[in-house]
Amino acid sequence: MKNILVTGGMGFIGSNFIRFILDLNQDFNIINVDKLTYAGNPENLKEFTDKFSNCYRFYKNDICDFDSIDKIVKKENIEYIINFAAESHVDRSINNSTTFCNTNFMGTQSLLNAAKINGIRKFLQISTDEVYGSLDFEDPPFTEQTPLAPNSPYSASKASADLLVNAYYKTFGLPVNITRCSNNYGLYQFPEKFIPLMITNALNNKKLPVYGKGINIRDWIYVEDHCKAILEVLLNGRIGETYNIGGDSEIANIDLVKIILKHLNKPESLITFVKDRPGHDLRYAINHDKITRELNWKPNIKFENGLEITIQWYKHNENWLNNVISKEYLKYYEHQYKNR
Ligand code: NAD
Ligand code: DAU
Repeated sequence: MKNILVTGGMGFIGSNFIRFILDLNQDFNIINVDKLTYAGNPENLKEFTDKFSNCYRFYKNDICDFDSIDKIVKKENIEYIINFAAESHVDRSINNSTTFCNTNFMGTQSLLNAAKINGIRKFLQISTDEVYGSLDFEDPPFTEQTPLAPNSPYSASKASADLLVNAYYKTFGLPVNITRCSNNYGLYQFPEKFIPLMITNALNNKKLPVYGKGINIRDWIYVEDHCKAILEVLLNGRIGETYNIGGDSEIANIDLVKIILKHLNKPESLITFVKDRPGHDLRYAINHDKITRELNWKPNIKFENGLEITIQWYKHNENWLNNVISKEYLKYYEHQYKNR
């Protein structure tokens, strides 16, 4: 059995990863540590946890709490740590960056220390393409050599954590990898993010708030493709290396919204252009040649198919939506869009 500590496993990508890896029915034991913030929801792994009770355990803890993490690592004989836990929403980091610095930087430091003290086999940091900053329309995609140039408090906190991970490799020889992926979409994504927000608003005939002119471009990857890449890097990534992961699916926000509306048979009049995000990165695009060449990974799910699966899921999982949306979130939503 490989004992893997997954942090942030009740969030969007973490819960998809846990479902993916345990469904493989191989020798993985998953220990999920999550603070259960607004974005972490036990609903994301409901039903599933009974099915895998022999190889899955959950601890409600903050990754910044070193003593608790150290105890868990010892008690569960952890060999691998995958750090998904983070504050992940750019707009929230613009409103207030404190929790971003605490969790994304200090939380990573606490995990790195636990990994170092307990001599684990690999520490995998789940980072983001946003650490590279923004591309112009005609620029080539980000490679692993692109200098770090984060623009938002969120991406700055992630880039800082990446630097610390590499420092633990260089200074202490801690076996690490970093992955930097583009925009994920799929099932169980919290509805504040672009794709689920647009789907759920359209389903409820609510306005779809598009920032600026909607010309910003993102590269979208189906979350399961990201999960497969993470497992490859965990098991076969060269120690000390960083791997870019991308979906080969660049699209402007406005074009994506129009596709979603078409799928749902809703009018384009629902689109409303609102005040732009401060420091809004224009374009992300990923060159994933390195992981393709070294680990034989490439994205499999075509964007049209992944989007259709995602739209259908949100259409048929209203209960999940009602369970994850709290009063706090509704207040946040009102505040976020009131003055735009
Ligand atoms: P998410 O916001 O859906 O989930 C984050 C999870 O971390 C939640 O379950 C939350 O409760 C938990 N968490 C937050 N603070 C914590 C703390 N202090 N201690 C323990 N748990 C804590 O995020 P996501 O979209 O699933 O992203 C997961 C990771 O992947 C993040 O590190 C993010 O930077 C990275 N990433 C995300 C994307 C994307 O498109 N969503 C793309 C590339 C990389
Ligand atoms: O690229 C990877 C990153 O992708 C991850 O590291 C982040 O955790 C994740 O949140 C995501 O960041 P983005 O800022 O790209 O994602 P978001 O869903 O917030 O926005 C996608 C695009 O849509 C972006 O150009 C902003 C725009 N947008 C977003 C929202 C929420 C709108 O136009 N209207 C909106 O209401």
